[in-house]
Amino acid sequence: MGAKILVVEDDLESLKLIGLMLQSRGYQVLAAQNGPQAIQKAVTESPDLVLLDVMMPGIDGYEVARRLRADPRTAHLPIVMLTARGQVTDKVTGFEAGADEYLVKPVHPAELLTRIEALLARAARLGPSVVAPRGKSIGILGCKGGVGVSTLAINLAFTLVRGPAAGKRVVLLDIRTGSSTLALQLGLRPQQGLRILAERDPAGLTADAVLAHADRHASGFLVLGGLPEPCGIAPPLLPPHVEAIMRSLEEAMDFILVDMGTGLSEANRILLRRLRYVLIVTEPQRISLLMTQALLAMLDNLEVGRHRQGIVIVNRIPASATPGKEVVENFLQRQILCVIPPAPELAFQAAERGMPMVMLQPESLVATQFRQLAEHLVAV
Ligand SMILES: Nc1ncnc2c1ncn2[C@@H]1O[C@H](COP(=O)(O)OP(=O)(O)OP(=O)(O)O)[C@@H](O)[C@H]1O
Ligand SMILES: [Mg+2]
Repeated sequence: MGAKILVVEDDLESLKLIGLMLQSRGYQVLAAQNGPQAIQKAVTESPDLVLLDVMMPGIDGYEVARRLRADPRTAHLPIVMLTARGQVTDKVTGFEAGADEYLVKPVHPAELLTRIEALLARAARLGPSVVAPRGKSIGILGCKGGVGVSTLAINLAFTLVRGPAAGKRVVLLDIRTGSSTLALQLGLRPQQGLRILAERDPAGLTADAVLAHADRHASGFLVLGGLPEPCGIAPPLLPPHVEAIMRSLEEAMDFILVDMGTGLSEANRILLRRLRYVLIVTEPQRISLLMTQALLAMLDNLEVGRHRQGIVIVNRIPASATPGKEVVENFLQRQILCVIPPAPELAFQAAERGMPMVMLQPESLVATQFRQLAEHLVAV
């Protein structure tokens, strides 16, 4: 199979022409007609090269190139810019944005092909120096505190290793250095690990260095949690540390689950850019739903694509007048991915024993819901 080329072009005719020309030379062609689609496909389809038009409505080609370069998952992709704008300043902008080649339309097919071949050959010579990350990162973010984020995270980790991700390497990571309950909820001793990592030079945070601080749960997944002491005592993880830890874990693990707590801290904003998928935890109560609405609007502002979001209802409190799934969907104008039913007795027993609910009662309704959720996450 030939190399995979992502062709980004808003004009359908040009897109078809270029696509056919590349296919006739044995290349596989992926198409995107606008910036957001291009960025998404660059992440999910792992092309070998991007052929990028500059003039597009919305996010233009320069911005697409900048974003591809800023994202470690796509930073290594060879980019050929193809544009009608031939001024020197346009070229400078193109190269500054991250283009490897800049061709002005109309370009002769032979020249285009030569440039593409040369770039692919150069990328092959450099080898897999920038290894595309293999791990799937999934964040869990609460619409407010105490809605069941950590409970969701530990039950999901357990369900994954016992089900659809059996034999895979799963790590559960806390992004806050304090106010952490992961270890306590799993019957493990809270570790200083995250705090120590926060004080290290981020350049030295290799997968081995990071995982040296992880604990292993009996079911097989790794845990890298913070301390139960209040947030604000230990310094928070700074952006370079968040990036380095995530990069290392994506290299070494198959699934990275991140307990993001609540709110859009600097660390959480970085995560939202990087994560493959984010679960937003809400509950069917007026105040939580209003906060969820505000959070979802912010996620749109931060351009977290909706295809990367899943809304989960954790229905902690059995109340007679609890709004149902459809009511919540109508209110939020969004689909709900999964509903975890109320299980106060089970939640209490599990917390007391320091084990996931699904471990204590694998046949419960809660466990069934977690299995469905885990299967969905393996597939996204
Ligand atoms: N399905 C459920 N039914 C009943 N109670 C639940 C359910 N899921 C979680 N709980 C309970 O809700 C409480 C809050 O859960 P958890 O600590 O996971 O929330 P959190 O969002 O992580 O909180 P924080 O913001 O403090 O980190 C816990 O007492 C937990 O046992
Ligand atoms: Mg929590």
